[in-house]
Amino acid sequence: MTTPTEIFARTVHDRLSPPRAVTAYAPSNIALSKYWGKRDAALNLPLNSSLSISLGDWGTTTTVAPADRDTLIFNDKSLDPDAPAAAKIWRFVDYFAGPERAPLSITTSNTIPTAAGLASSASGFAALALALDGAFDTALAPETLSMLARMGSGSATRSFWHGFAAWDKGVAPDGHDSHGRRVAAQSTALRIAIVPVDTGPKAHSSRDGMNHTVATSPLFPAWPDRADADCAAVEAAVTDWDFKILGTLAEANALAMHATMMAARPALTYLKPGSWQVLEALWQARGAGLNAYATMDAGANVKLIFESTSTDDVAVAFPQAQIINPFGSPQPVGVVANF
Ligand code: PMV
Repeated sequence: MTTPTEIFARTVHDRLSPPRAVTAYAPSNIALSKYWGKRDAALNLPLNSSLSISLGDWGTTTTVAPADRDTLIFNDKSLDPDAPAAAKIWRFVDYFAGPERAPLSITTSNTIPTAAGLASSASGFAALALALDGAFDTALAPETLSMLARMGSGSATRSFWHGFAAWDKGVAPDGHDSHGRRVAAQSTALRIAIVPVDTGPKAHSSRDGMNHTVATSPLFPAWPDRADADCAAVEAAVTDWDFKILGTLAEANALAMHATMMAARPALTYLKPGSWQVLEALWQARGAGLNAYATMDAGANVKLIFESTSTDDVAVAFPQAQIINPFGSPQPVGVVANF
């Protein structure tokens, strides 16, 4: 069986130059057709393909620089190397730069408002991969960096582009064909509203949640084929721009994913009473003509999707929401500064 170490060794190691300081940016993303379930835990290979919209200026900026010793600053705080988040980051850096690497300082900050309650391993690992690629001058294609970032976080595969991105699940046992790609859309009208319900840390990581669901949910066997069919239909709706089909599918797909979790034994529920209140309010508003749909991930917050023409109506119906324009000339994905 191929290991992450072997994949990084053959993809990256003969391209490494001595490091220099580089800063890179990657946006976070929200799946409109979800990734839920792994076929290979070590390589983070998914059981189904997924498709997302990137969140423009909501993302992660990361600087990698040569240093006297390893240091990691996360949102202005020094992180103990043994903290779980730090250990995942250093493991990825070791994969990328090899076991003999020189010490590095990593400074990373999220531009996502904490009040939005969106933790972002997606933008975090994408920005780290882009910063390492710049720092070591490996000049890898975004699809290759996406394939590598997958081994830090699955959803990071989709954070290498603005706008829509798909993560093709691939078929190769070593996962070389399991990475993100940009999806061109007919329209830039999509808007997102984050409706905060619970902004604290989540009780179960998405990794633990999906493993538990795959292992114990009697509804899970129906998920991978349904999710692949939804993903293909969502991509067609994006490409041809049919917002009603896109919204309907995205909402149904998210609820089906949550249904697999609720059927797990014991049950797993990321949704809280407040999430259901938002859904209820949305369904009532939709009955009265609001053209908006919901999606939820491994947390209680609800994300609404709608077209720009509905922005004022969404803001009135959900005054607590933060509205994002994914297409409002966000800063470019990739290296933003060399020193
Ligand atoms: O790769 P992770 O650990 O960020 O898992 C993402 C899981 C969901 O957010 C629930 C779905 C998705 O496709 O982003």
